[in-house]
Amino acid sequence: MRTLLELWPVSASTVSGEVDFFFALMVVVCGTVATGIAVFLIYSAVRYRRRRENEMGNQRRNFIPAEVAWIVLPFILFMGMFAWGAKLYMQIERPPDNAITMYVVAKQWMWKLQHPEGQREINELHIPVGQPVKLLMTSEDAIHSFYVPAFRTKQDVLPGRYTMTWFEATKPGKYHLFCAEYCGTKHSGMIGWIYAMEPHDYQRWLTQGAAEGSLASQGEKFFHQFGCSNCHHFENQGRCPNLRDLYNHPVQIDGGQTVLADDSYIRESILDPNAKIVYGFRPNVMPNFTGQLNESQVLALISYIKALGPQPGTEQPSSSGAAPKSYGEQPGIAGPEATSNANSKVEAR
Ligand code: CUA
Repeated sequence: MRTLLELWPVSASTVSGEVDFFFALMVVVCGTVATGIAVFLIYSAVRYRRRRENEMGNQRRNFIPAEVAWIVLPFILFMGMFAWGAKLYMQIERPPDNAITMYVVAKQWMWKLQHPEGQREINELHIPVGQPVKLLMTSEDAIHSFYVPAFRTKQDVLPGRYTMTWFEATKPGKYHLFCAEYCGTKHSGMIGWIYAMEPHDYQRWLTQGAAEGSLASQGEKFFHQFGCSNCHHFENQGRCPNLRDLYNHPVQIDGGQTVLADDSYIRESILDPNAKIVYGFRPNVMPNFTGQLNESQVLALISYIKALGPQPGTEQPSSSGAAPKSYGEQPGIAGPEATSNANSKVEAR
């Protein structure tokens, strides 16, 4: 009975209440306007129908105040709705600065999720309540869509690029995760659960531990395994750019452009190194890693690069706010000159 009457799914994120209210308002306003027009149309069609074969229309002048009113009032009303919708959209599209990043790789037909601490999950994601969580997402095959009705967020997940969504759960619970983009035979089975937990429960859950260490230290392992460390040096200039202090900073590339070294840029530079050559470096030095690395490995490498702080001794007090939160807090990041991952301390939690 309850499910039959359930017009709205549970509301469990910081934006869901406003989204519901805005949606209800749009339905009521648009429904009222549409009904009003339909009723007036039918009334006029009946009231002013032609009654005789040779009847002529009344040529009376227009009533200007009425015309002004029905142009200006709807304009103000609907532009107001547009402004509110745009504000809400911006809010949903821009994660807060203190959001923690989790990683999503979609494939036919499952969700692979990974925490920065290294925990992997399939079709399940545990998150803390009261903490903005940002998801960096990509797909290994078709287009999927990450949809959590209780949070009122839905975002396409595309092969070959990163998309982002974020939410902040407001109450603990177990919420449905759906794929909302037809992606093949078992699309309808590509479902899962989001577990929103009280922060201390979440911390306890995290201590169950990741066998492979944090995502960044897994990335460090790949950095050596795939030979990245042969050319990307830190202490001296290698054949390829120094990757310290790179993440989320501007980079000047060949041709004079400046690009931001965000996740998408780093992913592209790994999979298609010649696409944007850093100013002063030569093309065709770095091999193409398309097909050699899967999306999870690329995410681990990005996480490693993100965790690399500035050159030791050159740290500057971060005032821009552009620096990643994890600056210098990541134990186990030994840098490319480390010969193995064996000695690196894995985060305890
Ligand atoms: Cu994945 Cu539909």
